[in-house]
Formats: sequence, structure tokens, C-alpha cells
Amino acid sequence: MKVLIATEKPFAKIAVDGIRKEIEAAGYELALLEKYTDKAQLLDAVKDANAIIIRSDIIDNEVLDAAKELKIVVRAGAGYDNVDLEAATAHGVCVMNTPGQNSNAVAELAFGLMIMAVRNFYDGKSGTELMGKKLGIHAYGNVGRNVARIAKGIGMEIYAYDAYCPKEAMEADGIIPVNTAEELYEKCNVVSLHIPATAETKNSINYELVNRMPKNGLLVNTARKEVINEADLLRLMHDRPDLKYVTDIMPVHHVEFAEQCPGRYFSTPKKMGAQTAEANINAGIAAAKQIVGFLKDGCERFRVNKK
Ligand code: 3PG
Repeated sequence: MKVLIATEKPFAKIAVDGIRKEIEAAGYELALLEKYTDKAQLLDAVKDANAIIIRSDIIDNEVLDAAKELKIVVRAGAGYDNVDLEAATAHGVCVMNTPGQNSNAVAELAFGLMIMAVRNFYDGKSGTELMGKKLGIHAYGNVGRNVARIAKGIGMEIYAYDAYCPKEAMEADGIIPVNTAEELYEKCNVVSLHIPATAETKNSINYELVNRMPKNGLLVNTARKEVINEADLLRLMHDRPDLKYVTDIMPVHHVEFAEQCPGRYFSTPKKMGAQTAEANINAGIAAAKQIVGFLKDGCERFRVNKK
């Protein structure tokens, strides 16, 4: 059996070594395609792969067509919006993610961005502190829970909105649940986004919603760029010079944001949330173990597509 790691944005070497150990211990072969610049390289590499480990790499119908021997794709990470699930099902390929494995890394980066923004991007002028401020966690999943844990240590007042999470679970964590996204944005000085990119959420962070934030509101995005209605947010930041936006996923309109919102906008050049040795090791090795479990025992825990 051949397992391919196909990562345009590579794992740390220590994670690749750990994945190799798992795969070879199972008697399988590991192939590596890192930092590829062209889809043709991916199409070529998947030809004889029985399993693939990916990150944000796009697995579409064309890739699945080229991967004639493929049985399983594991997205080493949480969000699987980069995989065409219907096409995978049609090709008889199982798709999994590795939920929770990189969430602390993403949560820590959310605070890195937050602190940078409230300290005015380190321009030497007095900023503000996070202690005592109201934090809104938009979606209370694995990353949202880690954000809450860190925010408690900082001394923030923590609110969360998640239509799919029972309020009791939030309350048990000492978080104040709110009933609607609108309420969250109205209440909170800082909103941290942790929603996946789905048909329901794409473009949902719009003018009307963010405009509910109090004066000097800060929006932090370590989720996906697709959830932001960029035209709306640009217009709002023009109309509301008090608002700040910091993101780990460079917007399509990055140049416009940078030019039109100086001192109020920042984007990492490349998504960095899960780019830690720990997250790479956790997610990469979990992916390797899930592949071995699937190929040897048919274990389908963490499967995200239909059969
Ligand atoms: C995820 O969905 O797990 C995170 O967004 C990390 O994505 P990455 O592996 O592309 O850095």
C-alpha cells in the first residue's frame, strides 16, 4: 500500500518523520509531495496512491479521476471544505478529518492577532488590554473551546454563539451563551470567528452583522476567508473608522483592505494557525493512524463523506 503526503504547505520535518514511522510500521510505503506549485504535480503523484494525507490541498473530481487506486483521503486538520465530498463518494473514496488535533495552535494564533490589534500593531502608541473586555466566540467547537480556555486566563468576559452546541455545554465551561449571532456582535468588543465554510456560512459575516459591534470593535478571523462578505466588510470599515479586522486567511481583496484601512487591518501572508510543530505532529500522526486503521480494520471513525 502506498500512502502519499501531498502538502503544498508542508508539515514540520518532525511530523513527517512521525507519519513515516506509523506508515512503515504498518508495512506500507510513504511518498512525499511537498511545496508543489502546479496541479499537474499533484495529478501525477496521486496516480498510484492508495491513501493521501493532505492539509488545505484541493481534492476535486479531476484529482480523484487521476487517483485510480485511491481508497482514503485524510485531511490532517479540521476544515474539509477543500475536498469535494460528493465526488469522493462517487469514486468510492472515504474522506476523514482529524478534529481537535490542531485546535490549540489556531486558538493561540487568534490571541496573537488580537493582542497585536489592540496594541495598535506595535506602533508605539497606547493601545488597550484584553482583560475585562467582552469576547464573542462565533462557533463553539474545538477551536472555540481553546479560545475560551485562554480567554479565561486573560480575564475576558466570554460569550459564545453556536446554533449546533447545547447551551448547557457552554455554561458548564463558564461561557455565557447567546441566542443569535446578532446578539453576539452587539455585545462583544472582540469577535473571534470559528465557523466552517459551508453553504450556510459563506458570505454570512456581512455589513449588517459586523456593524452591530460596539465602538472600537475588533473582528478576528482564523476560520476561512469565504465566510466573510469582503465587499461588505470593506464598505463597513470605510463607514466605521473605529473597527479593526485581523485575519489569518488573506482576503481576495487584501490590497484594498491594506490600502483603505491602514493601521486597522492585518493579514498573515500564508495561513499560519496550524503551523506549529505540535499541531503538525498531532494532526499528521492522527491522519497516519486513521489510514492504517481504515486499511487494516475498516475503521471509519471521523469519516465525513457519505458511503
Ligand atoms: C484546519 O482546518 O485544520 C485549519 O484551518 C488548518 O489548515 P492548514 O492545515 O491548511 O494549515
